Amino acid sequence: MRRFLIDTDTASDDAIALLLAFAAPDVRIEAITMVAGNCRLDQAAQNALYVRELVGAEAPVHLGRDAPLLRPLVMAADVHGHDGLGDIGLPLHGRTADPGHAADVIRTVIRRHPGEVTLVTLGPLTNVALALLRDPELAGLVRECVVMGGVSDGFGNITPAAEFNIYVDPEAAKIVFGSGLKITMVGWDISRKYALLSGAELDALKAIGTKRARFAVDILAAVRRYVSERTGEDCADLPDPIAMAIALDPTIATKVVRRAVIVDTSDGPSMGATLVDHHAVTGRTANADVVVEASREKFIARLRQALAVA
Ligand code: BDR
Ligand code: CA
Repeated sequence: MRRFLIDTDTASDDAIALLLAFAAPDVRIEAITMVAGNCRLDQAAQNALYVRELVGAEAPVHLGRDAPLLRPLVMAADVHGHDGLGDIGLPLHGRTADPGHAADVIRTVIRRHPGEVTLVTLGPLTNVALALLRDPELAGLVRECVVMGGVSDGFGNITPAAEFNIYVDPEAAKIVFGSGLKITMVGWDISRKYALLSGAELDALKAIGTKRARFAVDILAAVRRYVSERTGEDCADLPDPIAMAIALDPTIATKVVRRAVIVDTSDGPSMGATLVDHHAVTGRTANADVVVEASREKFIARLRQALAVA
């Protein structure tokens, strides 16, 4: 059994990523930790607890930090809806998270299973940075940290240069990328290129007909509207699910390059950008394996499999 620890701001594509993890027969989810990002912290927790209930799982869900380390929280209600799951009227309230702060849980789980835990981050890196600040040796004890965040081709989604998860808490991202963790970075470029699903493909997923398939496609309503307004096409991209799919099956990443990744924490127009030193011009030591190509077919097949679970 592989041990996973998932840190998430539980918006719609995070929820689908959770479904992928819950469906993996060889994975034990040690904990799901909540961070503020697309949703407020309490909303993220309600959403994760709802998904847990939907699949009948027992993984503990813990609250983490409710704001970035140094900056005010930027959310993206226009992308995922005010409740983060598309505003489709789901009862996303009244559930109780498990006790313990995310940063402590991250630390405890990794210390309990040195070298065994795959950490998957689907939101801003605030909780992980806090855990590393408290216990820097953790970095050497993690099997792998798959980060959905950044871009490797300079094409941002929240600003022209930056991807949302890194932009929200760039200081946290800088700490994490500078920690010595064994990072696999799955940037938004991978989602844009290999996990952009058309309306017809999404409808075909929903037609699988299970509770999970209907839920996954219905909660993309807001994202679908948001993307359509920008591209003129009915489609949605799935950054967190493709990152999770790669964590579950590394062969979905078909080209990975080892690079120095620099996080821009300045307050200029590139704040939150991830500068990937593809030509080794900085002289900096490489700190991440950066996914630059992936298999769309394998990703969609994995998604179909996960959503088909009754
Ligand atoms: C990231 O931001 C959120 O919209 C998604 O859940 C993903 O984690 C993509 O930039
Ligand atoms: Ca997310």
